[in-house]
Amino acid sequence: MREHSNESARPEGALIDRFQRRVTYLRISVTDRCDLRCVYCMSEDVKFIPRAGLLSLEEIVQVGRNFVDLGVNKIRITGGEPLHRRDILKVFRELGELEGLRELTLTTNGTQLPRFAHDLHAAGVNRINVSLDTLQAERFRALTRNGKIEQVMAGLDAAQQAGIPRIKLNTVVLKNRNHDEVQDLVGFAIERGFDISFIEEMPLGVVGDHDRAECFYSSDQIRSDLARHFELIPTAESTGGPSRYFRIAGVDDTRVGFISPHSHNFCDHCNRVRMTCEGRLLLCLGQEHSVDLRRVVRANPGDDEALKRAIVSAMEIKPRGHDFDLHGQPVIFRHMNHTGG
Ligand code: GTP
Ligand code: 5AD
Ligand code: SF4
Repeated sequence: MREHSNESARPEGALIDRFQRRVTYLRISVTDRCDLRCVYCMSEDVKFIPRAGLLSLEEIVQVGRNFVDLGVNKIRITGGEPLHRRDILKVFRELGELEGLRELTLTTNGTQLPRFAHDLHAAGVNRINVSLDTLQAERFRALTRNGKIEQVMAGLDAAQQAGIPRIKLNTVVLKNRNHDEVQDLVGFAIERGFDISFIEEMPLGVVGDHDRAECFYSSDQIRSDLARHFELIPTAESTGGPSRYFRIAGVDDTRVGFISPHSHNFCDHCNRVRMTCEGRLLLCLGQEHSVDLRRVVRANPGDDEALKRAIVSAMEIKPRGHDFDLHGQPVIFRHMNHTGG
Protein backbone atom coordinates (compact mmCIF):
# COMPACT_ATOMS: atom_id res chain seq x y z
CA MET A 1 0.00 0.00 0.00
CA ARG A 2 1.98 2.91 -1.28
CA GLU A 3 1.46 6.39 0.04
CA HIS A 4 -1.10 8.53 -1.77
CA SER A 5 0.69 10.44 -4.48
CA ASN A 6 -2.15 11.46 -6.78
CA GLU A 7 -4.89 12.14 -4.23
CA SER A 8 -6.38 14.90 -6.33
CA ALA A 9 -6.83 12.60 -9.34
CA ARG A 10 -9.08 10.27 -7.38
CA PRO A 11 -12.79 11.05 -7.70
CA GLU A 12 -13.30 11.50 -3.96
CA GLY A 13 -16.76 10.70 -2.69
CA ALA A 14 -17.84 8.89 -5.82
CA LEU A 15 -19.26 5.99 -3.86
CA ILE A 16 -22.09 7.60 -1.90
CA ASP A 17 -25.45 5.92 -1.60
CA ARG A 18 -28.99 7.32 -1.42
CA PHE A 19 -28.71 7.63 2.36
CA GLN A 20 -25.49 9.67 2.12
CA ARG A 21 -23.38 6.81 3.41
CA ARG A 22 -19.92 6.70 1.94
CA VAL A 23 -18.61 3.30 0.87
CA THR A 24 -14.92 2.94 1.72
CA TYR A 25 -14.70 -0.76 2.62
CA LEU A 26 -14.89 -3.66 0.17
CA ARG A 27 -15.12 -7.29 1.26
CA ILE A 28 -14.18 -9.80 -1.41
CA SER A 29 -15.04 -13.48 -1.07
CA VAL A 30 -12.55 -15.44 -3.15
CA THR A 31 -13.98 -18.95 -2.70
CA ASP A 32 -17.01 -20.63 -1.13
CA ARG A 33 -14.94 -23.71 -0.21
CA CYS A 34 -13.69 -24.41 3.27
CA ASP A 35 -12.04 -27.23 5.19
CA LEU A 36 -14.49 -26.68 8.07
CA ARG A 37 -18.29 -26.85 8.15
CA CYS A 38 -19.27 -24.45 10.94
CA VAL A 39 -22.85 -25.20 11.97
CA TYR A 40 -24.03 -21.56 11.63
CA CYS A 41 -22.39 -21.06 8.24
CA MET A 42 -23.10 -24.03 6.00
CA SER A 43 -25.45 -26.96 5.74
CA GLU A 44 -23.80 -30.33 6.14
CA ASP A 45 -24.43 -31.37 2.53
CA VAL A 46 -23.16 -28.08 1.08
CA LYS A 47 -22.70 -27.97 -2.72
CA PHE A 48 -19.84 -25.78 -3.83
CA ILE A 49 -19.87 -23.57 -6.92
CA PRO A 50 -18.09 -25.10 -9.94
CA ARG A 51 -14.68 -23.48 -10.40
CA ALA A 52 -15.62 -22.06 -13.82
CA GLY A 53 -18.17 -19.81 -12.10
CA LEU A 54 -15.57 -18.09 -9.93
CA LEU A 55 -14.03 -14.78 -10.79
CA SER A 56 -10.41 -15.33 -11.84
CA LEU A 57 -7.60 -13.92 -9.70
CA GLU A 58 -6.95 -11.28 -12.37
CA GLU A 59 -10.61 -10.28 -12.38
CA ILE A 60 -10.59 -10.02 -8.59
CA VAL A 61 -7.60 -7.69 -8.71
CA GLN A 62 -9.23 -5.63 -11.47
CA VAL A 63 -12.36 -5.14 -9.38
CA GLY A 64 -10.32 -4.31 -6.27
CA ARG A 65 -8.19 -1.79 -8.16
CA ASN A 66 -11.23 0.00 -9.56
CA PHE A 67 -12.88 0.22 -6.16
CA VAL A 68 -9.71 1.78 -4.78
CA ASP A 69 -9.72 4.28 -7.65
CA LEU A 70 -13.25 5.16 -6.53
CA GLY A 71 -12.20 5.89 -2.94
CA VAL A 72 -12.27 2.52 -1.18
CA ASN A 73 -9.40 2.42 1.31
CA LYS A 74 -9.96 -0.93 3.02
CA ILE A 75 -10.26 -4.35 1.42
CA ARG A 76 -10.90 -7.54 3.33
CA ILE A 77 -10.44 -10.91 1.65
CA THR A 78 -12.93 -13.51 2.88
CA GLY A 79 -14.44 -16.85 1.84
CA GLY A 80 -15.23 -19.71 2.48
CA GLU A 81 -11.70 -20.06 3.60
CA PRO A 82 -9.74 -17.58 1.46
CA LEU A 83 -6.43 -19.37 1.95
CA HIS A 84 -7.87 -22.39 0.13
CA ARG A 85 -8.06 -20.47 -3.15
CA ARG A 86 -5.13 -21.56 -5.27
CA ASP A 87 -2.44 -18.87 -5.77
CA ILE A 88 -4.31 -16.44 -3.53
CA LEU A 89 -1.06 -14.76 -2.49
CA LYS A 90 -0.99 -13.20 -5.96
CA VAL A 91 -4.16 -11.27 -5.06
CA PHE A 92 -2.66 -10.07 -1.77
CA ARG A 93 0.57 -9.05 -3.46
CA GLU A 94 -1.11 -7.12 -6.25
CA LEU A 95 -3.76 -5.43 -4.12
CA GLY A 96 -1.05 -4.67 -1.56
CA GLU A 97 0.69 -2.50 -4.15
CA LEU A 98 -2.28 -0.22 -4.76
CA GLU A 99 -1.89 3.42 -4.00
CA GLY A 100 -4.68 4.68 -1.80
CA LEU A 101 -5.40 1.36 -0.09
CA ARG A 102 -4.87 1.92 3.62
CA GLU A 103 -5.66 -1.56 4.82
CA LEU A 104 -5.57 -4.99 3.21
CA THR A 105 -6.74 -7.69 5.52
CA LEU A 106 -8.39 -11.08 5.74
CA THR A 107 -10.86 -13.13 7.71
CA THR A 108 -9.76 -16.73 8.02
CA ASN A 109 -10.49 -19.88 9.96
CA GLY A 110 -6.77 -20.02 10.74
CA THR A 111 -6.02 -23.58 9.70
CA GLN A 112 -3.79 -22.59 6.77
CA LEU A 113 -1.90 -19.82 8.56
CA PRO A 114 1.16 -21.95 9.29
CA ARG A 115 1.71 -22.05 5.50
CA PHE A 116 0.72 -18.49 4.69
CA ALA A 117 1.33 -16.15 7.63
CA HIS A 118 4.82 -15.11 6.67
CA ASP A 119 3.97 -14.30 3.03
CA LEU A 120 0.78 -12.50 4.00
CA HIS A 121 2.69 -10.24 6.32
CA ALA A 122 5.29 -9.64 3.62
CA ALA A 123 2.44 -8.63 1.26
CA GLY A 124 1.39 -5.89 3.71
CA VAL A 125 -1.27 -7.65 5.79
CA ASN A 126 -1.02 -6.17 9.28
CA ARG A 127 -4.33 -7.22 10.79
CA ILE A 128 -6.23 -10.48 10.47
CA ASN A 129 -9.45 -11.85 11.92
CA VAL A 130 -9.47 -15.50 12.92
CA SER A 131 -12.68 -17.38 13.72
CA LEU A 132 -12.59 -19.23 17.03
CA ASP A 133 -15.78 -20.13 18.88
CA THR A 134 -14.39 -22.32 21.63
CA LEU A 135 -11.17 -23.33 23.34
CA GLN A 136 -12.33 -26.92 23.84
CA ALA A 137 -11.22 -29.49 21.28
CA GLU A 138 -14.38 -31.58 21.45
CA ARG A 139 -16.68 -28.57 21.14
CA PHE A 140 -14.63 -27.26 18.26
CA ARG A 141 -15.06 -30.60 16.53
CA ALA A 142 -18.83 -30.40 17.04
CA LEU A 143 -19.22 -26.74 16.03
CA THR A 144 -17.12 -27.13 12.88
CA ARG A 145 -18.39 -30.65 12.11
CA ASN A 146 -15.03 -32.37 12.51
CA GLY A 147 -12.41 -29.61 12.64
CA LYS A 148 -9.24 -29.90 14.71
CA ILE A 149 -8.62 -27.03 17.09
CA GLU A 150 -4.86 -27.74 17.11
CA GLN A 151 -4.69 -26.48 13.53
CA VAL A 152 -6.19 -23.11 14.48
CA MET A 153 -3.91 -22.82 17.50
CA ALA A 154 -0.91 -23.55 15.26
CA GLY A 155 -2.23 -20.90 12.87
CA LEU A 156 -2.47 -18.30 15.63
CA ASP A 157 1.08 -19.13 16.75
CA ALA A 158 2.31 -18.80 13.16
CA ALA A 159 0.60 -15.43 12.69
CA GLN A 160 2.24 -14.04 15.82
CA GLN A 161 5.63 -15.51 14.92
CA ALA A 162 5.35 -13.96 11.45
CA GLY A 163 4.94 -10.58 13.15
CA ILE A 164 1.36 -9.78 12.13
CA PRO A 165 0.73 -7.07 14.73
CA ARG A 166 -3.05 -7.19 15.21
CA ILE A 167 -5.05 -10.37 15.45
CA LYS A 168 -8.77 -10.40 16.24
CA LEU A 169 -10.69 -13.49 17.24
CA ASN A 170 -14.27 -13.79 15.94
CA THR A 171 -16.61 -15.77 18.14
CA VAL A 172 -20.17 -16.52 17.06
CA VAL A 173 -22.03 -17.13 20.32
CA LEU A 174 -24.79 -19.74 20.46
CA LYS A 175 -26.81 -20.37 23.60
CA ASN A 176 -26.02 -23.76 25.14
CA ARG A 177 -23.26 -24.45 22.63
CA ASN A 178 -20.53 -22.00 23.68
CA HIS A 179 -22.13 -19.11 25.62
CA ASP A 180 -20.54 -20.35 28.84
CA GLU A 181 -17.05 -19.84 27.39
CA VAL A 182 -17.03 -16.09 26.84
CA GLN A 183 -14.98 -15.44 29.99
CA ASP A 184 -12.40 -18.09 29.03
CA LEU A 185 -12.17 -16.73 25.50
CA VAL A 186 -11.55 -13.20 26.76
CA GLY A 187 -8.93 -14.63 29.14
CA PHE A 188 -7.25 -16.34 26.19
CA ALA A 189 -7.36 -13.12 24.13
CA ILE A 190 -5.75 -11.19 27.00
CA GLU A 191 -3.04 -13.81 27.50
CA ARG A 192 -2.14 -13.66 23.80
CA GLY A 193 -2.66 -9.93 23.18
CA PHE A 194 -5.52 -10.46 20.71
CA ASP A 195 -8.72 -8.49 20.21
CA ILE A 196 -11.95 -10.46 20.29
CA SER A 197 -15.40 -9.82 18.80
CA PHE A 198 -18.51 -11.64 19.91
CA ILE A 199 -21.02 -12.02 17.08
CA GLU A 200 -24.78 -12.59 17.09
CA GLU A 201 -25.64 -15.30 14.59
CA MET A 202 -27.28 -14.09 11.39
CA PRO A 203 -29.94 -16.09 9.50
CA LEU A 204 -28.19 -16.65 6.19
CA GLY A 205 -29.30 -19.80 4.45
CA VAL A 206 -30.84 -22.86 6.06
CA VAL A 207 -28.26 -24.56 8.26
CA GLY A 208 -30.27 -27.50 9.62
CA ASP A 209 -28.21 -27.99 12.75
CA HIS A 210 -30.05 -25.82 15.27
CA ASP A 211 -32.97 -23.45 15.71
CA ARG A 212 -31.47 -19.99 15.37
CA ALA A 213 -34.08 -18.29 17.53
CA GLU A 214 -33.54 -20.80 20.35
CA CYS A 215 -29.76 -20.37 20.14
CA PHE A 216 -29.85 -16.58 20.17
CA TYR A 217 -27.60 -15.13 22.86
CA SER A 218 -27.51 -11.35 22.80
CA SER A 219 -24.47 -9.12 23.05
CA ASP A 220 -26.01 -7.47 26.13
CA GLN A 221 -26.22 -10.84 27.83
CA ILE A 222 -22.57 -11.57 27.00
CA ARG A 223 -21.58 -8.17 28.28
CA SER A 224 -23.31 -8.73 31.58
CA ASP A 225 -21.73 -12.20 31.86
CA LEU A 226 -18.31 -10.65 31.27
CA ALA A 227 -18.96 -7.78 33.68
CA ARG A 228 -18.85 -10.28 36.56
CA HIS A 229 -15.16 -10.86 35.80
CA PHE A 230 -13.84 -7.85 33.89
CA GLU A 231 -14.40 -4.12 34.06
CA LEU A 232 -15.42 -3.21 30.50
CA ILE A 233 -14.90 0.40 29.52
CA PRO A 234 -16.63 1.67 26.36
CA THR A 235 -14.35 3.17 23.75
CA ALA A 236 -15.09 4.98 20.52
CA GLU A 237 -12.25 3.13 18.77
CA SER A 238 -13.27 1.61 15.46
CA THR A 239 -11.69 -0.70 12.92
CA GLY A 240 -14.10 0.50 10.26
CA GLY A 241 -16.25 -2.62 10.75
CA PRO A 242 -19.43 -3.13 12.78
CA SER A 243 -17.80 -4.03 16.14
CA ARG A 244 -18.55 -1.77 19.12
CA TYR A 245 -15.45 -1.97 21.25
CA PHE A 246 -14.71 -1.98 24.96
CA ARG A 247 -11.38 -1.84 26.74
CA ILE A 248 -10.73 -3.89 29.87
CA ALA A 249 -9.51 -2.08 32.99
CA GLY A 250 -5.85 -2.93 33.60
CA VAL A 251 -5.32 -4.56 30.20
CA ASP A 252 -3.42 -2.74 27.46
CA ASP A 253 -3.56 -4.88 24.36
CA THR A 254 -7.01 -6.42 24.15
CA ARG A 255 -10.26 -4.88 22.95
CA VAL A 256 -13.54 -6.71 23.34
CA GLY A 257 -15.99 -6.05 20.51
CA PHE A 258 -19.65 -6.83 19.95
CA ILE A 259 -21.20 -7.34 16.53
CA SER A 260 -24.90 -7.13 17.22
CA PRO A 261 -26.97 -7.09 14.04
CA HIS A 262 -30.10 -8.03 16.03
CA SER A 263 -29.79 -6.13 19.27
CA HIS A 264 -27.91 -2.97 18.15
CA ASN A 265 -28.48 -2.47 14.45
CA PHE A 266 -25.48 -0.75 12.81
CA CYS A 267 -26.87 -0.29 9.29
CA ASP A 268 -27.08 3.51 9.59
CA HIS A 269 -23.29 3.65 9.63
CA CYS A 270 -22.74 1.05 6.93
CA ASN A 271 -19.64 1.88 4.90
CA ARG A 272 -19.22 -1.40 3.04
CA VAL A 273 -20.23 -3.58 0.14
CA ARG A 274 -19.15 -7.11 -0.63
CA MET A 275 -18.47 -9.16 -3.70
CA THR A 276 -19.25 -12.87 -3.82
CA CYS A 277 -16.79 -15.35 -5.29
CA GLU A 278 -18.89 -15.36 -8.48
CA GLY A 279 -18.49 -11.60 -8.88
CA ARG A 280 -21.92 -10.59 -7.61
CA LEU A 281 -21.67 -7.21 -5.91
CA LEU A 282 -23.97 -7.35 -2.89
CA LEU A 283 -25.00 -3.98 -1.55
CA CYS A 284 -26.06 -5.39 1.83
CA LEU A 285 -25.28 -8.64 3.62
CA GLY A 286 -28.92 -9.02 4.63
CA GLN A 287 -30.63 -8.20 1.31
CA GLU A 288 -30.42 -9.54 -2.23
CA HIS A 289 -29.85 -6.23 -4.09
CA SER A 290 -26.88 -6.96 -6.32
CA VAL A 291 -25.07 -6.21 -9.56
CA ASP A 292 -23.38 -8.87 -11.68
CA LEU A 293 -19.84 -7.51 -11.98
CA ARG A 294 -18.61 -10.74 -13.57
CA ARG A 295 -20.88 -10.04 -16.54
CA VAL A 296 -19.66 -6.43 -16.77
CA VAL A 297 -15.99 -7.46 -16.58
CA ARG A 298 -16.36 -10.22 -19.15
CA ALA A 299 -18.50 -8.18 -21.58
CA ASN A 300 -15.97 -5.34 -21.53
CA PRO A 301 -12.51 -6.92 -21.37
CA GLY A 302 -9.91 -4.51 -20.00
CA ASP A 303 -12.42 -1.64 -19.89
CA ASP A 304 -12.06 -0.10 -16.45
CA GLU A 305 -14.47 2.72 -17.25
CA ALA A 306 -17.38 0.32 -17.87
CA LEU A 307 -16.60 -1.40 -14.59
CA LYS A 308 -16.40 1.90 -12.70
CA ARG A 309 -19.76 3.00 -14.14
CA ALA A 310 -21.36 -0.25 -12.97
CA ILE A 311 -19.89 0.18 -9.48
CA VAL A 312 -20.94 3.82 -9.16
CA SER A 313 -24.50 3.14 -10.33
CA ALA A 314 -24.77 0.18 -7.94
CA MET A 315 -24.77 2.73 -5.08
CA GLU A 316 -28.32 3.68 -6.15
CA ILE A 317 -29.64 0.29 -5.05
CA LYS A 318 -27.83 -0.03 -1.73
CA PRO A 319 -30.68 -0.72 0.72
CA ARG A 320 -31.11 1.08 4.02
CA GLY A 321 -30.42 -2.10 6.01
CA HIS A 322 -31.18 -5.73 6.70
CA ASP A 323 -34.51 -7.23 7.83
CA PHE A 324 -33.12 -10.22 9.70
CA ASP A 325 -35.77 -12.17 11.55
CA LEU A 326 -34.60 -15.10 13.65
CA HIS A 327 -38.10 -16.42 14.14
CA GLY A 328 -39.23 -17.07 10.58
CA GLN A 329 -37.60 -18.97 7.74
CA PRO A 330 -34.43 -17.25 6.48
CA VAL A 331 -35.25 -14.79 3.70
CA ILE A 332 -31.67 -14.84 2.46
CA PHE A 333 -30.99 -18.18 0.84
CA ARG A 334 -27.26 -17.82 0.26
CA HIS A 335 -25.05 -19.13 3.02
CA MET A 336 -22.34 -17.09 4.71
CA ASN A 337 -19.58 -18.96 2.88
CA HIS A 338 -20.70 -17.38 -0.43
CA THR A 339 -20.21 -13.85 0.80
CA GLY A 340 -17.82 -14.16 3.72
CA GLY A 341 -19.92 -11.94 5.97
P1 GTP B 1 -12.85 -5.34 11.23
O1 GTP B 1 -13.78 -4.38 11.90
O2 GTP B 1 -12.05 -4.74 10.15
O3 GTP B 1 -11.98 -6.08 12.21
O4 GTP B 1 -13.70 -6.43 10.48
P2 GTP B 1 -15.16 -6.98 10.64
O5 GTP B 1 -15.44 -7.34 12.06
O6 GTP B 1 -16.06 -6.07 9.91
O7 GTP B 1 -15.03 -8.29 9.73
P3 GTP B 1 -15.11 -9.82 9.97
O8 GTP B 1 -14.85 -10.45 8.64
O9 GTP B 1 -14.25 -10.24 11.09
O10 GTP B 1 -16.62 -10.06 10.32
C1 GTP B 1 -17.08 -10.25 11.62
C2 GTP B 1 -18.58 -10.42 11.60
O11 GTP B 1 -19.17 -9.18 11.23
C3 GTP B 1 -19.08 -11.47 10.61
O12 GTP B 1 -20.06 -12.24 11.20
C4 GTP B 1 -19.66 -10.62 9.51
O13 GTP B 1 -20.70 -11.29 8.88
C5 GTP B 1 -20.16 -9.43 10.29
N1 GTP B 1 -20.33 -8.26 9.42
C6 GTP B 1 -19.35 -7.58 8.78
N2 GTP B 1 -19.90 -6.59 8.04
C7 GTP B 1 -21.24 -6.68 8.23
C8 GTP B 1 -22.35 -5.96 7.75
O14 GTP B 1 -22.22 -5.03 6.97
N3 GTP B 1 -23.59 -6.33 8.16
C9 GTP B 1 -23.78 -7.36 9.00
N4 GTP B 1 -25.02 -7.65 9.37
N5 GTP B 1 -22.75 -8.08 9.49
C10 GTP B 1 -21.51 -7.74 9.10
N1 5AD C 1 -23.83 -15.38 11.51
C1 5AD C 1 -22.83 -14.63 12.04
N2 5AD C 1 -21.52 -14.80 11.75
C2 5AD C 1 -21.23 -15.81 10.92
N3 5AD C 1 -20.05 -16.23 10.45
C3 5AD C 1 -20.27 -17.26 9.60
N4 5AD C 1 -21.58 -17.53 9.51
C4 5AD C 1 -22.21 -16.64 10.34
C5 5AD C 1 -23.57 -16.39 10.68
N5 5AD C 1 -24.57 -17.11 10.15
C6 5AD C 1 -18.79 -15.60 10.85
C7 5AD C 1 -17.60 -16.51 10.90
C8 5AD C 1 -16.46 -15.62 10.51
C9 5AD C 1 -17.10 -14.41 9.89
C10 5AD C 1 -16.68 -14.10 8.51
O1 5AD C 1 -18.47 -14.65 9.86
O2 5AD C 1 -17.42 -17.05 12.17
O3 5AD C 1 -15.73 -15.22 11.64
FE1 SF4 D 1 -15.51 -22.21 6.99
FE2 SF4 D 1 -15.66 -19.77 8.07
FE3 SF4 D 1 -17.86 -20.98 7.22
FE4 SF4 D 1 -16.59 -21.92 9.35
S1 SF4 D 1 -17.57 -19.88 9.16
S2 SF4 D 1 -17.39 -23.14 7.63
S3 SF4 D 1 -14.52 -21.54 8.88
S4 SF4 D 1 -16.21 -20.31 5.95
